[in-house]
Amino acid sequence: MNKNLWVIANWKSNKTIREALDWVSYVGPKIPKIDPSADGLKVVVCPAFSALSEVKKAVAVGNYPLVVGSQDLSPYNVGAYTGEEAAPLLKDLVSLSIIGHSERRENFTETDEIVAQKVKRAVENNITPLVCVQGSDTLVSDGCKLVAYEPVFAIGTGNPDTPDNAEVVARGIKSLYGEDVEVLYGGSVTSENIKSFIDMENISGSLIGRASLNAEEFVKIITSL
Ligand code: PGA
Repeated sequence: MNKNLWVIANWKSNKTIREALDWVSYVGPKIPKIDPSADGLKVVVCPAFSALSEVKKAVAVGNYPLVVGSQDLSPYNVGAYTGEEAAPLLKDLVSLSIIGHSERRENFTETDEIVAQKVKRAVENNITPLVCVQGSDTLVSDGCKLVAYEPVFAIGTGNPDTPDNAEVVARGIKSLYGEDVEVLYGGSVTSENIKSFIDMENISGSLIGRASLNAEEFVKIITSL
């Protein structure tokens, strides 16, 4: 394999701690044991904040090759920001954070400026920012080397973009922001269609919502690569 292959589960606002642990104990032992710091397959799970620390513990105890990420982080540092999850508080729990998901841009009025601030906080704290964009015209802020192309029409609809179009967008993002930027595709990805996306030259994996919630389907996704 000459490119990284990211398979990232975005659970969104789902799963109790119990449900999260059941998922980890089913999926964890079935992930091929590859050093997650080496090139190759990188499987990431992004639970809700409430389950992060238990998931992190379960992954460590099981010694599973599973990276733990968050779905967001605060644009601010630590301090008087009630309800926020600051990057310095998260860095012991996560090594990646989804930033600027379209659901946050839409429901929480997150702007490119806020996204840029979050990327900055992540990088300062050695958390890999994964910035979600809706097309090659969404701004990718400095310091971000991992981008997910997620067209809004494809999210949670069962109506994915075509691999060919995703490839064109991925190519466009790389030509704008550098060949070292890795581009993922997200939006209605399942075990049936993931291969058609990751077979594209410029697509380095997928960000998966609905299909990642079901542990059996998620294992199928990994084993179908
Ligand atoms: P979906 O969500 O796989 O349910 O379409 C993807 C995402 O929002 O990251």
